[in-house]
Amino acid sequence: MRLKDKIALITGGANGIGLATTERFAKEGAKIILWDVSDKGGEVVEHLRSEGHDAIFKKISVTNKNEVQDALDEALEHFGRIDILINNAGITRDRTLLKMSKEEWDDVIAVNLTGVFNCTQSVAPIMKEQNYGRIVSASSNVAIRGNFGQTNYVATKSAIIGMTKVWALELGRFGITVNCIAPGFIHTAMTDAMPEEARTQSIPLIPLGKWGIPEDIANGYLYLASDEASFVSGICLTIDGGASR
Ligand SMILES: NC(=O)c1ccc[n+]([C@@H]2O[C@H](COP(=O)([O-])OP(=O)(O)OC[C@H]3O[C@@H](n4cnc5c(N)ncnc54)[C@H](O)[C@@H]3O)[C@@H](O)[C@H]2O)c1
Repeated sequence: MRLKDKIALITGGANGIGLATTERFAKEGAKIILWDVSDKGGEVVEHLRSEGHDAIFKKISVTNKNEVQDALDEALEHFGRIDILINNAGITRDRTLLKMSKEEWDDVIAVNLTGVFNCTQSVAPIMKEQNYGRIVSASSNVAIRGNFGQTNYVATKSAIIGMTKVWALELGRFGITVNCIAPGFIHTAMTDAMPEEARTQSIPLIPLGKWGIPEDIANGYLYLASDEASFVSGICLTIDGGASR
């Protein structure tokens, strides 16, 4: 039980990597606060409860600071503290620079960048008060490598690496570690949307010769959220089968 009785807030925990993380954290003894725009979060939490775990769900968008603050107040009423924040919610709206609409740009910035800012800025004062916290956000290996058709997405994922370093500096003295992970290609709904050709072409570029699964990333979140990583802060942990070697 690497997270025994820790209170973990996971955004975008209803699907994909966030779902695998929610399930893994619960098995490791964490009590779960799940935020997602998808109603599926309700089913996920019901299932966790049926297995004897303590978990609550709130349908909110991380883009809305007021919703975030209200949901946080509700979560604090239920659990009394927040030990772990996993800024996992993210979206893609891929288009080449020459064709990208303002809406596609704005949507991705709102969720992947402003959403991470909103959640971290709301939760950090609670962690400061506790003199304890673990914050882990989802970057991507495309933040380092770039990717065709992802100006908006790469902008946000690079920014997460930068914000992580700033927050590690600012919050370290309050017992808070701040890190991010940079997944490569992982089988989820997000990557199911990619053209078959692009998926096939990606395999030879990965030394391990395959895509990862959500559990590979959940393991990374788990390490950085656990006390095993108590002296780790300001890093970006790449988990991509060696693609960014
Ligand atoms: N899948 C990959 O290959 C990959 C690679 C690198 C990074 N990532 C990052 O990992 C994270 C999880 O990705 P995934 O593949 O599991 O995606 P996914 O699409 O399977 O799941 C994302 C979840 O976020 C939720 N969400 C979307 N907008 C939201 C909002 N405004 N507020 C709250 N919740 C919202 C969705 O409903 C969904 O449950 C994302 O930040 C993504 O950018 C994924």
